[in-house]
Amino acid sequence: MKKQVLLVGYFSLLLALLVACKGGANQSNEGTAQVDSTQTAEKVVNVYSHRHYPADQQLYDEFTKQTGIKVNVVQAKAAELLARLEQEGASSPADVLVTVDAGALYLIKQKGLFQAINSETLNQNVPAYLRDTENQWFGLTQRARVIIYNKDKVKPSQLSTYEDLTKAQWKGKVLIRSSENIYNQSLLAAIIHHEGAEKAKQWAAGIVKNMAREPKGGDKDQVLALAAGEGEVAVVNTYYLGQMANSKEEAEQKAFAKIGVIFPNQAKYGTHTNISGAGVCKYSPNKDNAVKLIEFLSSNQAQKVYAEANQEYPIRGGLPYSATLESFGKFKADTLDLSILGKLNAEAVKVFDEVKWK
Ligand SMILES: [Fe+2]
Repeated sequence: MKKQVLLVGYFSLLLALLVACKGGANQSNEGTAQVDSTQTAEKVVNVYSHRHYPADQQLYDEFTKQTGIKVNVVQAKAAELLARLEQEGASSPADVLVTVDAGALYLIKQKGLFQAINSETLNQNVPAYLRDTENQWFGLTQRARVIIYNKDKVKPSQLSTYEDLTKAQWKGKVLIRSSENIYNQSLLAAIIHHEGAEKAKQWAAGIVKNMAREPKGGDKDQVLALAAGEGEVAVVNTYYLGQMANSKEEAEQKAFAKIGVIFPNQAKYGTHTNISGAGVCKYSPNKDNAVKLIEFLSSNQAQKVYAEANQEYPIRGGLPYSATLESFGKFKADTLDLSILGKLNAEAVKVFDEVKWK
C-alpha cells in the first residue's frame, strides 16, 4: 500500500514537472540540440536542462569564454530528460542536469541519476539548506511563492498568511493554478511539514472552497485574471511577476501595475521559497568540467545574471536583487531543508486528490 502511494507520488511528480513551466517563457529547441561525447574531457560539458530562459544561454556562453569549455545543451521537459537519462544509462553523455523545484531534484537523486560532488566552492557558495545533504544537487536560484492582490479591491492589511486565504471573506476570490503543478505540491508539502497533515488538509480544502474558478493556466495566467477582475487574490512565483513587470507585452505590464505583493507567513516560519538547481550526472564523462560549470553558476557574476535577466533571487545574502524584486522589499524566507519537499510530495499529491483540487 505504501509502495503504491509512493509510485503514485512519483508519477504525479513527473506529471507536475511536465506542466511546471507551462505558459512560462518560450520553449524553443526542445530536445533538438545535439550533445557531443567525442571531444576530449577538457573541452566540453553536456547539459540536460529543463530551464528554458535566455539568461541560461548567456551564462553558458560566458563560461565558454572564460574556460574554453564548450557547453552543449539539450533542452526538454524534465520528465523527458529523466526518461532519456534512464534509457542511456552508463553510456549517457550528460554531465549536468539542471531543473526547477527541490522536489524534482530530490526525485532525480532518489532514482540514482546524480553523484556526490566534493567542492569547497559549492559548499561555500550554496547555503546548506539550499543543497542536498549528500552534495548531489545544489540550488542555483531562488523564487518565493507569494500572495498577490488586486490593489483596487484589497488592502494588504487584510491578509498575511497562506492560511488567511481560506477565510470566508475570500470565498470565490482566490486564483491559483492546478494541483498537478509541482509549485503547489511543494507549497503543500511545506505546510504539511510545518503545520501537520490535518491542518494542511484543512488548508487545501479551504482553498478549493474559496477558488474564483477551476484552476487553469500557469502563474502568469493567474496575474492576468486577477487584473481582469476575476478574483481578488492569487498565489504565484515572484520571477513571473518580475518578468511581467519588464515584459515587452503591454497586457502583462498593465496587469502587473494592478497588483500588490504580500510575503506570507512573516510572523511564522517565513514565505515558501523554492529553488532551481543542478547536479552532476551519475555517468558524467566530463565530471571536472561539470563541477566547474556548476561552480561558475553559483558565482557572484552568474548570480547577478540570474537576478537581472530572469528575475530570480540569489542563493545567498549580500548579492543584488533586480529592481523589480527589490521593489517588493526584503522578506523572511522559509529555510526548511528542501529535501523535505521531495519526501512529502506523495503525501501532498494524496491530499490534493482527497480535497478534489484539480
Ligand atoms: Fe516556472
